[in-house]
Amino acid sequence: MKKYNHFINGGSVPPASGTYFDTDNPYTGEVWAQVARGNTQDVDRAVAAAKAAFEGGDWAALRPTARGKLLVRLAEIVEREAPRLAELEVRDNGKLIAEMGAQTKYLAEWYRYFGGLADKVEGAVLPADRPGIFNYTKHEPLGVVALITPWNSPLLLLAWKLAPALAAGNTAVVKPSEFTSASSLEFVELIKEAGIPDGVVNCLTGFGQEVGAPLVEHPDVAKVAFTGSDFAGQKIYEAAAKKIMPVTLELGGKSPNIVFEDADFEAAVMGAISGIFAATGQTCIAGSRLLVQRSIHDKFLKRLIEVAGEATIGDPMSMETHVGPVTTKPQFEKVLHYINVAIEDGAKCVLGGKPFSGEGIKGTRFIEPTIFANVTNDMRIAQQEVFGPILSVIAFDTEEDAIRIGNDIDFGLAAGVWTSNIGRAMRMSDQLKAGTVWVNTYRAVSFMSPFGGYKRSGQGRESGQDAIHEFLQVKSVWIAHETSAANPFIMR
Ligand code: NAI
Ligand code: MG
Repeated sequence: MKKYNHFINGGSVPPASGTYFDTDNPYTGEVWAQVARGNTQDVDRAVAAAKAAFEGGDWAALRPTARGKLLVRLAEIVEREAPRLAELEVRDNGKLIAEMGAQTKYLAEWYRYFGGLADKVEGAVLPADRPGIFNYTKHEPLGVVALITPWNSPLLLLAWKLAPALAAGNTAVVKPSEFTSASSLEFVELIKEAGIPDGVVNCLTGFGQEVGAPLVEHPDVAKVAFTGSDFAGQKIYEAAAKKIMPVTLELGGKSPNIVFEDADFEAAVMGAISGIFAATGQTCIAGSRLLVQRSIHDKFLKRLIEVAGEATIGDPMSMETHVGPVTTKPQFEKVLHYINVAIEDGAKCVLGGKPFSGEGIKGTRFIEPTIFANVTNDMRIAQQEVFGPILSVIAFDTEEDAIRIGNDIDFGLAAGVWTSNIGRAMRMSDQLKAGTVWVNTYRAVSFMSPFGGYKRSGQGRESGQDAIHEFLQVKSVWIAHETSAANPFIMR
């Protein structure tokens, strides 16, 4: 069986504890690899390696242009390795090869984009308001950054953090999810192949409490970028507050996908389906609250049930599959729990609602695409993130209702609007409190477009030009070129 060690200072390092844990294939349920179980000693080693790489040596000496070139080289290697990385992701997290294939191919664009951006961060010369002074600003990297990722899209969510972090000149310790560590460990080998010096990127595996928490608390870690649950995000934010350390947090959501009577009906149906059943609903941007205008509600629901009911459930490695397994056992149980919660609160199950096992289906982690109707926005199924193939359908009457219900939630990651009225599209985009609004599309992301949350969905932005500044700090330099022995007891 494959055995994975940590990756520290450019090499494979066994865990200080000497112990490993299993990782399974969510489709077959079979354990296929063992992964190093990290602890604080491993954290100390990895952070020390990253600190040494930041403070001296080849990386620290590189000019931004040279750093950028290394990232572009990495992009080429990632493109070459995309099919292998996609298979690895599917084996470990059970998502569809159709989706992971596209995702790993697209991954390269983050490294290419931020490679290009590395030498385009410019400071300013300020028109100093006193004589004899030259005042300019420059952007400097933060130091060692901790990048903590979840299991749903391990390499993509790593790229969103690592590409800008490296472009900015930082060094990193990566901590992937305990459920899906393999792809990140294979990925850091490619970083070595690209010629990025040893110690610049290190990868530690293990559990949140045992590795994640001590990594965040480590005095030499200058910043954390995290994607995951709002629970862990809050813990990380609290720990960061103790050190006055900046964070980027992406904490999921309960996004409204809003369909008006004037929408292209069939396009909206497909948009609603892609919002919740793609990726088995295991996505932070899931359109898990479907708001449908009452005049088309019944017709829309009928068509939705028809299309979702025909989805092919099964082997994620088959290009024919639409809905794969739930990635982790605790997540499977969480989804079942929320089905019961929805029923308890009075929602009406109109499709699915139970585990799926069909002929030729391996494993035991499937849940039928599930639709709840008669949902009101105060129900737990409408307020809490499930992260599974469970859709809540809520009827609304007017545009004002749609805005009120859409915004009546602690989260604010994304929102969808389906309408053929351009004025309405603009009004809704202005009024919805979410970091991303999609009109007549859903689940679109790009390396060049900023992504992040309003409200409890997080802090900071990933992707786009803003993202590099999440990993930089500004210095203001004052040079007196006409010296004077002025009165030292008043401000200069
Ligand atoms: P999690 O938030 O516990 O784990 C995400 C990462 O954080 C993992 O690498 C984990 O080891 C690490 N971690 C956990 N506690 C930590 C701590 N105190 N300090 C530092 N690192 C820590 O998420 P989990 O348990 O995998 O999934 C639970 C729920 O989170 C899901 O049901 C879903 O609702 C949500 N989730 C949201 C995601 C998103 O994209 N926003 C992605 C995955 C899960
Ligand atoms: Mg796994």
